Amino acid sequence: MNNKDVVVLLGTGSIGQAIARRVGAGKHIVLADLKQENAEVAAKILENAGFETSTVATDLGSRDSILKLVEHSQKFGPVKNLINAAGVSPSQASVADILRVDLYGTAVLLEEFGKIISEGGSGVVISSQSGHRLPALPEEQNEQLAVSAVEELLNLPFIKAITDTLKAYQYSKRCNVLRVMYEATRWGKRGATINSISPGIIITPLANDELHGPRAEGYLKMLRLCPAGRAGTPDEVGDMAEFLMSSRGRWISGSDFLIDGGTTASYWYGDLQYLKVTH
Ligand SMILES: NC(=O)c1ccc[n+]([C@@H]2O[C@H](COP(=O)([O-])OP(=O)(O)OC[C@H]3O[C@@H](n4cnc5c(N)ncnc54)[C@H](O)[C@@H]3O)[C@@H](O)[C@H]2O)c1
Repeated sequence: MNNKDVVVLLGTGSIGQAIARRVGAGKHIVLADLKQENAEVAAKILENAGFETSTVATDLGSRDSILKLVEHSQKFGPVKNLINAAGVSPSQASVADILRVDLYGTAVLLEEFGKIISEGGSGVVISSQSGHRLPALPEEQNEQLAVSAVEELLNLPFIKAITDTLKAYQYSKRCNVLRVMYEATRWGKRGATINSISPGIIITPLANDELHGPRAEGYLKMLRLCPAGRAGTPDEVGDMAEFLMSSRGRWISGSDFLIDGGTTASYWYGDLQYLKVTH
């Protein structure tokens, strides 16, 4: 057994890699992805930049697969950091897959790593600005998303009633934020913090799918009109995550950080209000 601190990255795309580079020096980085080849591509890039890595195929939407990831990760030393940057978007997947991976899977991941995260550890979950476009939910629904037994989440009547992929994604991302609040109370008992980051459009392969998918025109207009006038970069999300996972972020837990160039502000109160009609 190698006794390095371990960083676990689930979803080895651009956002995940940007975060891992900032927190992974001198540690062992476990690169986990549904597609083993994605994990290997990331491993090659990171190994060539001086990081120590291992790869493991993992399906965020399966508890068995997450348990195998926990077991693999602990072989290298104490798990200090968890980064969840895996997910599927509304143009990529069905309602059932979005709910299974983004909503249920994230809840399982937080539950299982919350049992083994080490003292002084920290985690971040990549949620989305999309969750900030749902109006406030009834308090009872908030509570059900936050604290229901994980295996009950997909049976909640208002979740079962979802029929379109955008709604599935929005509820999943809202659930991520609420679940992080609940898990912060458990992670805190182990001396660890957990937070979520809700990015706006960040240029990655996933965003590029959206920019070339059925909603492309809408995305481009939204970027033109948002206060920043542009999309974000994985590194800007990485900088936020680095702060939250650093010694300066120890008093921050159970919080969500919107990083979207002002897009959400504009959606509710500015030039992007027209989107409320269609979304
Ligand atoms: N890119 C954006 O504009 C944007 C904006 C807001 C939120 N997000 C969120 O950021 C996260 C990462 O997205 P990205 O833009 O870096 O995309 P990406 O496509 O670069 O990376 C996503 C990775 O997740 C993996 N993945 C998909 N399903 C999985 C599963 N079931 N189990 C394990 N891995 C799986 C993919 O194989 C891929 O490597 C997602 O949760 C997404 O919802 C992205």
